[in-house]
Amino acid sequence: MGFLNNLFKKSKETKKMSNTKLAVVFYSMGGTNYEMAKWAAEGAKEAGAEVRVLKVQELAPESVIAANEGWKATVEATKDVPVATSEDLEWADAIIFSVPTRFGNMASQMKQFLDIQGGLWATGKTVNKVVSAMTSAQNPHGGQEATLLSLYTSMMHWGAIIATPGYTDPVIFGAGGNPYGTSVTVGQDGKMIEDVEAAVKHQAKRTVTVAEWVKKGNQ
Ligand SMILES: Cc1cc2nc3c(=O)[nH]c(=O)nc-3n(C[C@H](O)[C@H](O)[C@H](O)COP(=O)(O)O)c2cc1C
Repeated sequence: MGFLNNLFKKSKETKKMSNTKLAVVFYSMGGTNYEMAKWAAEGAKEAGAEVRVLKVQELAPESVIAANEGWKATVEATKDVPVATSEDLEWADAIIFSVPTRFGNMASQMKQFLDIQGGLWATGKTVNKVVSAMTSAQNPHGGQEATLLSLYTSMMHWGAIIATPGYTDPVIFGAGGNPYGTSVTVGQDGKMIEDVEAAVKHQAKRTVTVAEWVKKGNQ
């Protein structure tokens, strides 16, 4: 375990205060990714970041949402959360995405959000954003890594700098040990199975720290 101790020591060295701007962009139907987004915001604020928590535009027909109590409740719970825009991404030094796994991929609402950033991308404004992603799924092996990789694929096209958690802190093991990004299993009752709060906060702090390094190095 010696190498792990060195790894954790190295990661602790990164926890300094910052004035980094972080956009936490989420989609959530059942509330899980909204909760994770709020934890990420808390973690980033503890690291000194200025944070915007933003939802992506809902695309599902109202009739479909109305037929699902959990979905309706999430729409209500997030009604005051601003919808993310290109301006938010331009403002941000760092972006954390939180999105449910859908058939081993990101929810289409998030994909649509990425796809309407062509203008931002074409003017070079996605370059050097420090990005990281989180997800949830119903099954322990339900495609979490595939979802995160699909999002990171788009980020490579953006020229973004992907900051994954790796195994930079022991809390990652307690959260199921996903080095691609924090992921959580959600039971049929909609409740999270693993306790991922600390891992989400660690991921947020690490994203902010890496963004701070990039900002300083670019001045
Ligand atoms: C259309 C659809 C497809 C889904 N596909 C998967 C899947 O591939 N693997 C899985 O484990 N769970 C799958 N799920 C379950 C969701 O991942 C789970 O409900 C979600 O992570 C909860 O996040 P939320 O509460 O933020 O909406 C799917 C759910 C829906 C509605």
